[in-house]
Amino acid sequence: MPQADKRKNAEKWFDTDDQFNQLYPVSIQALARRHWTPLGVARKAAKFLAAENKARILDIGSGVGKFCLSASYYYPGAFYYGVEQRKSLIGHAEAAREILQADQVSFIHGNFTQLELKNFDHFYFYNAFYENLTGTDKIDDSIDYSGELYNYYNRYLFRQLEQKPGGTRLATFHSLEEEIPQNYHEVGSEFDNLLKFWIKV
Ligand SMILES: C[S@@+](CC[C@H](N)C(=O)[O-])C[C@H]1O[C@@H](n2cnc3c(N)ncnc32)[C@H](O)[C@@H]1O
Repeated sequence: MPQADKRKNAEKWFDTDDQFNQLYPVSIQALARRHWTPLGVARKAAKFLAAENKARILDIGSGVGKFCLSASYYYPGAFYYGVEQRKSLIGHAEAAREILQADQVSFIHGNFTQLELKNFDHFYFYNAFYENLTGTDKIDDSIDYSGELYNYYNRYLFRQLEQKPGGTRLATFHSLEEEIPQNYHEVGSEFDNLLKFWIKV
């Protein structure tokens, strides 16, 4: 299908968050408010991350793909990748990707610790490890949660980000900032500081 027709076909899903969330089953829609990036946030984050043509942007913990799919709609000049540990969520992300015909989006099933982060230019992070903490909302009971995992993942991501070259961009949403090395400087924020933009010096 020509690119212009694909865009026309996708347009109706991007009117509102409720409309977009209807790409997914009701059980997944019910998780949206707490766990999936709102369209307005994805748009601002993608504007920051898609800094150069063909940038490779990774969403660390991509869930049902809402960030990648909406970012690619708003800023189609980049490539968007999502890594997600829950296979069932990858299935929902792929189904939505098919409907939207989002060719520049790829989803990878696995733990982000198995990925070579050096293969990506810029990163989006919506507090993916938070559900490991006690008293937090969980997506489901299909995985183990623990404070040890929370610390391990934060430390792992910190070390990976630290090794990236200068100019690497990071957008965080609802982050407690434990994963952000000191050589990343905050260069802006939106949505009452919930969405922050960082660049490695
Ligand atoms: C808050 S949701 C955000 C989903 C998506 N980024 C979005 O903004 O719509 C966080 C996701 O990260 C995933 N996740 C958490 N830890 C992970 C890990 N170590 N490796 C891969 N995915 C992980 C969870 O399964 C969950 O789907």
